[in-house]
Amino acid sequence: MKIVVLAGGTSSERDVSISSGAMIYRALKEKGHQVIFLDVYLGCEWEEQDAAGIFECEKDWVKELGNISEENPDISQIRAMRPDGDKNFFGPNVIRICQAADAVFMALHGENGENGKIQACFDLLGITYTGTDYVSSALAMDKGISKELFAYHGIPTPAGIRLKKGQKQEEIKERVPFPCIVKACCGGSSVGVSVAMTEEDYEKALEEAYKYDDEVIVEQYIEGREFSVGVIAGKALPIIEIAPLQGFYNYKNKYQPGAAVETCPAELSPEKTKEIQGYAEKVFKALRLKSYARMDFMMSRQGEVFCLEANTLPGMTPVSLLPQEAAAVGIGFGDLCEKILEMACVPQK
Ligand SMILES: Nc1ncnc2c1ncn2[C@@H]1O[C@H](COP(=O)(O)OP(=O)(O)O)[C@@H](O)[C@H]1O
Ligand SMILES: [Mg+2]
Repeated sequence: MKIVVLAGGTSSERDVSISSGAMIYRALKEKGHQVIFLDVYLGCEWEEQDAAGIFECEKDWVKELGNISEENPDISQIRAMRPDGDKNFFGPNVIRICQAADAVFMALHGENGENGKIQACFDLLGITYTGTDYVSSALAMDKGISKELFAYHGIPTPAGIRLKKGQKQEEIKERVPFPCIVKACCGGSSVGVSVAMTEEDYEKALEEAYKYDDEVIVEQYIEGREFSVGVIAGKALPIIEIAPLQGFYNYKNKYQPGAAVETCPAELSPEKTKEIQGYAEKVFKALRLKSYARMDFMMSRQGEVFCLEANTLPGMTPVSLLPQEAAAVGIGFGDLCEKILEMACVPQK
């Protein structure tokens, strides 16, 4: 197949996306596909009339890509790399090359990529893409809406509220006692997420979260164990437990090797395993997800389980959580990528 692996972009998870994309690119190439890697925002030089000709290029598209740094990237530097300005989010030649492909493998994370906008564009442009469709992407991206749907469908989620920039802070204190967690409503990779134990922390946490979004979620902090569960075509994979050596599962702990201990399958009783997997499958249905996704959970010391969120384009390096879960049931990384391609969304006009 002719495949474009689409990565990069302008979200705070840009670096992670490039890392996922590079791994997917290599794995699909090894499987014998004609693959190219494109940064959705920076595009590439390809002035020839025949867009499909690019798939014949003998070039290693990911040779010079580096590792993920400890901090999330400075996006203004990326924006400055588009001399044409960025009126059109899609970089040079991206659309016509994607239209010439059999499928676009979505290796984007965060904002544009995970929020459904690109999926909606691709539907209208006749481009086949991996992952879920635009509606479910948008529902899952907004943690406030997801939480409302969780509650409606009987899926436990930490008590919380949604705040808009400029809203009075007095309103919050009564409803969510300390410690609480503050996060950007449409963020990802723990960017803009902080724990607040005191009033002072809380003010800082709000300020931080508002850097990334005009709406934030303030929710009850659940102290205990953290888990994540991938779901493929409605069926849950084995659960993975994540135990950061220090603090919570923040950006650094997510992407620096050795910063967190990950155990798959998680050490849980068969009953608890079934309960959490059952919730993950329920989330998949509640958010109308298609293809694959990964849900994050906390379990309190009393054994109560809470769903935090759903990730519609979860990390896809071989050591990312969902690929580790797939490996636990014998699905290797290359096979997983091909499985995801088989489930790709055919454009709906
Ligand atoms: N209510 C909560 N209680 C305890 N820890 C939380 C809570 N919400 C988030 N966290 C921590 O913050 C991390 C990121 O939060 P999450 O809701 O998964 O957002 P995202 O991964 O999209 O940034 C989680 O993996 C978890 O470690
Ligand atoms: Mg998460």
